[in-house]
Amino acid sequence: MTIEAHGGRLIDRIIHGAARVELLDRATNEMKKLRLTAQEIYDIELIATGAFSPLEGFMCKADYNSVVDTMRLESGVVWTLPVVITAGAEESKGFKEGEDVALEDESGTILAVLHLEEKYSYDKEKEALEVYGTREDKHPGVSRLYDSGDMLLGGKISVLNRPKHKDFIKYRLDPADTREMFRKKGWKRVVGFQTRNPVHRAHEYIQKCALETVDAMLLHPLVGETKAGDIPAHIRMACYEVLLENYYPKDRVALSVFPAAMRYAGPKEAIFHALVRKNFGCTHFIVGRDHAGVGSYYGSFDAHYIFDEFDIEEIGIIPLFFDYTFYCKSCYGMASFKTCPHDSSDHVALSGTEVRKMLGEGQAPPSSFTRPEIAKILSEHYRCESAYHKQPSKSNV
Ligand code: ADX
Repeated sequence: MTIEAHGGRLIDRIIHGAARVELLDRATNEMKKLRLTAQEIYDIELIATGAFSPLEGFMCKADYNSVVDTMRLESGVVWTLPVVITAGAEESKGFKEGEDVALEDESGTILAVLHLEEKYSYDKEKEALEVYGTREDKHPGVSRLYDSGDMLLGGKISVLNRPKHKDFIKYRLDPADTREMFRKKGWKRVVGFQTRNPVHRAHEYIQKCALETVDAMLLHPLVGETKAGDIPAHIRMACYEVLLENYYPKDRVALSVFPAAMRYAGPKEAIFHALVRKNFGCTHFIVGRDHAGVGSYYGSFDAHYIFDEFDIEEIGIIPLFFDYTFYCKSCYGMASFKTCPHDSSDHVALSGTEVRKMLGEGQAPPSSFTRPEIAKILSEHYRCESAYHKQPSKSNV
């Protein structure tokens, strides 16, 4: 059984051979250039490889408005987050609808051509409220939105050069690759796991509960841009490598990276994360407590309730919902409010802030919260970080 891509077809926007040479030549010599933000660069790769199927480019106005207002593309296909390219008001005057624009990274390498269909203004406060549920610029997604250019440029893209990566090379698999891997291994029911935090016992517990009911799991940590204070991706990946080596069945778990920026859009991002993992070939997707949340902007289970707003057929991937899970001293094991009868004073539950505080003070989190191997990696990371920050700058020496 191969699961259909969202919208019915896995998109491929990468141009090869003579067509690439010709378009790259025109892009280099004839087209106006637009410098992309980090998030736009991640999005280019995800559109190009079909991870964002059915998107073939950046949203034009009808799709953008429809997504913000109704959580659907104009075609009616479910899609919950805008995927857009922004430009400053002045800068955008240089780009004409109907023309091609060369999209380049920070070093000036041309990554893609935007076949510019539409240039339009948008209401940032409206997007903030509808997509992120708040207008507060303390919210990292809203703050990024407010800092973006005032105009949006929509149209299909043709990708000439994929963004270059120096890290996680063996873990970078496109949707076509993961689909092929699942097929070769005979995995028919695969659960996807999104994460942006260092793995802890609650993560492991919900992953393994899910794994009991399906053939395999795709561990898919997000390695694109995250907010300041989140643990860097290479540390999180090192944690997963140790965990997989010691505690997971090798023939039923695949580790690969998800090269997207984190939006922190809570429930709407949970739907988006599920749809994208469907494009990677997953049949199931884990949604736990406060999925893709930040601060106290969303209710703990808003990311579960939002799935009720759609028919499961139009989502096309089965969400596996998990309650708040923790270690219970009286159960002598991991449990959740659904399965544990004991008082919350028996529960070991640490917030991200508490864990960061412990690590910052040189204390390792307890083994009831995280495996000792993981605590060691995190403690070392914090030791290096604090040594680095304590280093006197040259001017002080
Ligand atoms: S997220 O931003 O990627 O959602 P995180 O990496 O912490 O953050 O979470 C990954 C997944 O695990 C999400 O589905 C989240 O809801 C779930 N999760 C994290 N901690 C818990 C917990 N204690 N109980 C239940 N689910 C959890």
